[in-house]
Amino acid sequence: MIRTRITGVGRYVPPRVVTNHDLKQWMDTSDEWIRERSGIVERHWVDEKTATSDLAVEASKIALEQAGKKPEDVDFIIFATLSSDYYFPGSGVLLQHKLNMPKVGAMDVRNQCSGFVYSLATANAFIRAEMYKTILVVGAEVHSKGLDISTEGRDVAVLFGDGAGAVVVEGFDDDSDRGILTTHLHSQGKYAEYLWTEAPGSAGPRHISHEILEAGKAAPKMRGRDVFKHAIVRFPEVIMEALNTIGATLDDVDLLIPHQANLRISEAVRQRLGLPPEKVYNNIERYGNTTAATIPIALSEVLEKGMLKEGDLLILAAFGSGFTWASAAIRW
Ligand code: COA
Repeated sequence: MIRTRITGVGRYVPPRVVTNHDLKQWMDTSDEWIRERSGIVERHWVDEKTATSDLAVEASKIALEQAGKKPEDVDFIIFATLSSDYYFPGSGVLLQHKLNMPKVGAMDVRNQCSGFVYSLATANAFIRAEMYKTILVVGAEVHSKGLDISTEGRDVAVLFGDGAGAVVVEGFDDDSDRGILTTHLHSQGKYAEYLWTEAPGSAGPRHISHEILEAGKAAPKMRGRDVFKHAIVRFPEVIMEALNTIGATLDDVDLLIPHQANLRISEAVRQRLGLPPEKVYNNIERYGNTTAATIPIALSEVLEKGMLKEGDLLILAAFGSGFTWASAAIRW
């Protein structure tokens, strides 16, 4: 049976660090409020010239090198982002061009914080269907250019950062059970308005206007408490769904990498599942929420720190705007 394995992982964040203290120059907030509510201490923001695909290029180069691949070895690109370079086309084709890759297909996935797990699941299905052998899966975001950094937008603005993570996945046909064991994808669109950027879009005026800007519709809006309440239910649910599918228990889990939305959410999920702190990886304090990029960024750190060894059971889980939520179980 063909198994999809992650053979290279890379991350890249822009050099500019914006601390909680720095945010005070634009909005009425405090380091204490942000740390206590979210665990975030600092995040990275791009400069004016840098776009989402630029961050993706850097992370992809590292992932490709680690996998021992050249851009021409890749059969397909899946690019998860909610902050693409342009309204259209998506950022996947720009990555294809910037990496001088052959004319392979490139697909953008718009599933926000669940985007990376959705993309990994899609790559796994393509590989197991023998459509492609080697796929580059990227999660990248530039949030800083779209946030409302005034006091009005502070509840959202303090939480998000820019960054990119990339993985190379390949199909192997051998006797080992190493690789992606199962993936689970869910959505509930009735909560779309709970975390969204409303305009411009086809549901309203397509062009940006003073009216849209003045109504605050072009910046992300969130019903934070509702997002929190749903997240702490959906995370454990979708993690258990993955474990039940492969006939494993929480005791079998070696490492959980949850999407980095908020340290309090990760901690609540950990406690609900009864996992020890050392089995749940968090790095939100240094990056904020980088949406589709959080999981591959975390995975690259975990590998660098030697926290995963061959045969370990790794669980990835995400929840976010849509609402969407997802999990993957991987035998490392
Ligand atoms: N700095 C200082 N004060 C702030 C602030 C900020 N950045 N943002 C909001 N506040 C204020 C509010 O205006 C409010 O003031 P008031 O009581 O005078 O009206 C007060 O802090 C409490 O706001 P509230 O929204 O009730 O706080 P909270 O305890 O619910 O925490 C979140 C807010 C956003 C941190 C929390 O709801 C959360 O973590 N939600 C999940 C968010 C998330 O993970 N999103 C991504 C999902 S992928």
